[in-house]
Amino acid sequence: MAKKPLRIGIIGYGFMGRAHSNAYAKVGHFFDSDYQVVLQAACARNEDAVKSFAARWGYRSVETDWRKLLKRDDIDVVDICTPNNTHAEIAIAAAKAGKAILCEKPLGLNAPEAEKMVAAVAKAKVPNMVWYNYRRCPAVVLAKNLIDEGKLGKIFHYRANFLQDWTINPDLPQGGAALWRLDVKAAGSGVTGDLLAHCIDTALWLNVGIKNVTAMTETFIKERVHQETGKKQKVGIDDACAFLCRFKNGSLGLFESTRYARGHKALYTLEINGENMSLRWDLHDLHRLQVFDHRDEGRVRGWRSVHVSDGDQPYMKNWWVPGLQIGYEHSFVHQVADFLQGLQSGKAARPDFKDGLATDYVVDAVLASAKNGQWQNVKQVK
Ligand SMILES: NC(=O)c1ccc[n+]([C@@H]2O[C@H](COP(=O)([O-])OP(=O)(O)OC[C@H]3O[C@@H](n4cnc5c(N)ncnc54)[C@H](O)[C@@H]3O)[C@@H](O)[C@H]2O)c1
Repeated sequence: MAKKPLRIGIIGYGFMGRAHSNAYAKVGHFFDSDYQVVLQAACARNEDAVKSFAARWGYRSVETDWRKLLKRDDIDVVDICTPNNTHAEIAIAAAKAGKAILCEKPLGLNAPEAEKMVAAVAKAKVPNMVWYNYRRCPAVVLAKNLIDEGKLGKIFHYRANFLQDWTINPDLPQGGAALWRLDVKAAGSGVTGDLLAHCIDTALWLNVGIKNVTAMTETFIKERVHQETGKKQKVGIDDACAFLCRFKNGSLGLFESTRYARGHKALYTLEINGENMSLRWDLHDLHRLQVFDHRDEGRVRGWRSVHVSDGDQPYMKNWWVPGLQIGYEHSFVHQVADFLQGLQSGKAARPDFKDGLATDYVVDAVLASAKNGQWQNVKQVK
């Protein structure tokens, strides 16, 4: 049977533009689907750069204005891989144009923006998904399966870190290409919306919703030259954030993120402690899940390092042979595969925009608490 073409229009050719394009290129080779992904158009403002990106990745055409891309009737899916301050405007317009939308995280610059995005896709009834790709690492999915099967018993603790060290230099400017993450107007926040958003999404998925939070943030470098004005300007983002929270199931959460942990480049770790079992995962060893099962015979009880590469482990039967691991980029391939499967089955893949909003509510509560020094209740998605 001929496959249905699904024509992608991608906006942004940076880090995520490449990660997503790689996923589109690979998905059909490894996962069955009724759909054939077609790289229809790449869009970014710099014509030469977007042409060269399109040529390298095999996109059939280019646009330099995303509004033009949305007007085209040969685009089925709009993939938003641009800085955070552009997500809402593009996604709301894409929904109005009747396009399916794959949006990078965090969903909005803040929760009020994300609420409008959720309303727009609900009104237009268009498929939507947010790229919280760590949900698609096989070892993290294995953790999810063990938790859902009740193997851990009652959950007591959830803790996560996301540590980097790339902004310690005070001479690093803020704003503009490559450094938009340091400009609060483009990013919305610092590590909270950038890195902790990932940790929060995984926690909401693996554990349960968060009731309330108390947080502290710090901006270590108070002023940086802005690349667009050439002037020293106040830094509005949080360089570091730590927060405590209570989950709805009574468990306690502890989260930390910084770009000032010298020696750490992208150390995302999570641990969940239940009455019977604890699980631990580390992005630097992403194909392994550490498992401690208290029900093991005492003489041999200890932490097991499970190499997640066997055919009965999540996603792995689609790849190589048992014992051969996969990596970071595969999480994006899995996300596209699940999106296609969702379209085919009518049971939409998640995280969708509502899930993205749930994370944005936590991010906003964390930032509010850091500002006013009070515990904050987290708004819940209706
Ligand atoms: N899921 C993840 O793990 C992950 C990782 C990194 C980034 N992200 C998210 O992806 C998004 C993009 O981040 P990145 O690291 O790829 O950034 P990047 O700076 O590498 O690339 C951004 C791209 O957007 C383009 N762009 C900016 N404004 C535009 C506009 N108005 N119209 C068209 N193109 C425009 C730039 O030219 C560039 O191609 C952000 O929202 C970020 O938070 C997610």
